[in-house]
Amino acid sequence: MIAYASRTGNVRYVVSKLQGDAIEIEEGLQLDKPYLLITYTDGLGDIPMKVAHFLEENSALCKGVVVSGNSNFGNHVFGGAGDKIASRYQIPLVRKLDLRGYGGDYEAIQQFYEERVIG
Ligand SMILES: Cc1cc2nc3c(=O)[nH]c(=O)nc-3n(C[C@H](O)[C@H](O)[C@H](O)COP(=O)(O)O)c2cc1C
Repeated sequence: MIAYASRTGNVRYVVSKLQGDAIEIEEGLQLDKPYLLITYTDGLGDIPMKVAHFLEENSALCKGVVVSGNSNFGNHVFGGAGDKIASRYQIPLVRKLDLRGYGGDYEAIQQFYEERVIG
């Protein structure tokens, strides 16, 4: 399972490049299977509020996090949501994508998904 949050469509585009069941995070979502989390970055390196709420209930089954950000924000906060989630929940940061990322990113994410999430 892939659980994702997308505000302006970049993460949604990344998800469309992957093979696997995907579900968009909404308030109150509860998952009962291992999943890969894909999120954007908000604020100044922050975890989007609905993703933070989702993780409060669902962190145990999260096998990895992929984050999208915009490198124009600067190294300090680029993809900061992914760094915070990885460190707070001790979850691997699979990939940090600049906006939609690149072809090689999708292959690496797909491989992680097959080996470590559904494998
Ligand atoms: C209000 C706002 C704040 C943002 N803050 C950051 C940030 O701190 N670091 C970062 O890397 N990207 C930041 N971004 C960029 C988004 O994370 C990036 O565009 C991402 O690809 C959006 O994904 P989405 O199109 O799926 O919503 C911000 C974007 C907005 C609109």
